[in-house]
Amino acid sequence: MVSKTRKDITTRDDVKLLVDRFYEKVNQDELLAPVFSHVDWPNHLPIMYDFWASIVLGEMSYNGNPFAKHIHLNINKEHFTRWLELFTKTVDVHFEGYNATQVKTRALSIADLFQYKRGLLGNRS
Ligand code: HEM
Repeated sequence: MVSKTRKDITTRDDVKLLVDRFYEKVNQDELLAPVFSHVDWPNHLPIMYDFWASIVLGEMSYNGNPFAKHIHLNINKEHFTRWLELFTKTVDVHFEGYNATQVKTRALSIADLFQYKRGLLGNRS
């Protein structure tokens, strides 16, 4: 359910909440959970806090290469669609405002870029 008192994403704690809730959903999702079964969560979650805080709060804490991490994953267009659906839902349940819109837009454009690079856009899926 969407909370009546939604605020914007303005602090690192907000980013943590978003990331934690999102991956809880991912881990309960029958399509996505198997792709993440090898993930070392205590290590992965702080990386994701850094990634999103860099995007939305202007922190300079993430300096990895997200695309390289996805090249070898066995994922298709359906996975991306589900990932984006869960991410958008998680943002909308907890937040609203400029930064909330911003993270959704960025997620979509990065997902498109990943899919483009993997040849998953258009009719090739
Ligand atoms: C089908 C959709 C996606 C799946 C199944 C997926 C899965 C994964 C997995 C399994 C990892 C961990 C890789 C590892 O360290 O072993 C990972 C890392 C990561 N993913 Fe995704 N991902 C998806 C989409 C996205 C999108 C759309 C974004 C960005 C908006 C994103 C951002 C990242 C970042 C930043 C990392 C960490 C990279 C690093 O360690 O520096 N992912 N993803």
